[in-house]
Amino acid sequence: MQNKKILVLKGDGVGPEIIDCALEVLSAISDKSGEKFTLDFADIGGVAIDKYGNPFPEETEQKLQDVSAVLLGAVGGPKWDNIDPAIRPEKGLLALRKALGVYANLRPCQIYPGLIDNSPLKPEYLKNVDFVIVRELVGGIYFGKRDTFIENGLRTAFDEERYDEAEIKRIAIYAFETAMGRSKKLTLVDKANVLDSSKLWREVVAEIAEDYPEVELEFLYVDNAAMQLIRQPSSFDVILTNNIFGDILSDEASQIAGSIGLLPSASLGAEVGLYEPIHGSAPDIAGQNIANPLATILSLAMLLRYSFGLHAEADQIEQAVKQVLANGHRTKDLAPDDYLGTREITHEVIKNL
Ligand code: IPM
Ligand code: MG
Repeated sequence: MQNKKILVLKGDGVGPEIIDCALEVLSAISDKSGEKFTLDFADIGGVAIDKYGNPFPEETEQKLQDVSAVLLGAVGGPKWDNIDPAIRPEKGLLALRKALGVYANLRPCQIYPGLIDNSPLKPEYLKNVDFVIVRELVGGIYFGKRDTFIENGLRTAFDEERYDEAEIKRIAIYAFETAMGRSKKLTLVDKANVLDSSKLWREVVAEIAEDYPEVELEFLYVDNAAMQLIRQPSSFDVILTNNIFGDILSDEASQIAGSIGLLPSASLGAEVGLYEPIHGSAPDIAGQNIANPLATILSLAMLLRYSFGLHAEADQIEQAVKQVLANGHRTKDLAPDDYLGTREITHEVIKNL
């Protein structure tokens, strides 16, 4: 059996400590299952700027060549806030996504029974909440033309939201396929009452829908979608949307679940998958053993499932996380007065594997 190769990019802020937790879980899984993993490490984001003057250095890009998956912590921090925008830590993450070509970003959101009280929503709204955001990840305004200049004596800037039909088609197919494996309901979130790019999304998605007659397709404007996510989150199954709306709605979704420290993500559609928690680098709590590692541990579960087909092992991790929460263990984001540390809750997860 060939060793499975993972490139680990710890990044900045809480990145290193939450990744170390995920790696402890991986090592426990390896002991139990006999599966062998080979790890390689490289830099991205602020640490890479400090070391190479580039948030996505050549050294890191090279290493993508011979791995099957990338596990990433988080990037960014106040240290690099005033740096040239062209080399901000976040640019490293975007360059990595683009280099891999991972256009389909899956961000599942479900409610853990023990965490109902952590959600700002009333319990009756939380019943049967289980949806996944399928966010287009390598196009749109994140990668469009942008410029800052003086025009008519005024400081002016623009960022272009641009998609071609091929980009929309491939993510739409991904979303329909995802819906076929779930409750067969798909909601396209856009702003087609204002944006031409959104109108094109509607057109293309409606065309693809003809190949998926079993999937119930619904269109929602993004402002309405933001409202419905709070009003009736259980009405969603698969949410398909562009890069920027997906970014915004997934943070909103994390609050329905109780904490942004819980939501994992998988970025797929290419040969090498990228797995990262949806949260940022939280520099204010870095190095204090209080960050929530569960989103990263759950991202590792997604890695095992999608990049290596290790479904049983992925289920094991997800079940263990559920069990730890059901046993009443909490990290500080979930229970500020009575919590386990980053490492300690990881050990609970490992005990429950
Ligand atoms: C995310 C993050 C990133 C994004 C940032 C760090 C560039 O917010 O993964 O949601 O906007 O995609
Ligand atoms: Mg985000």
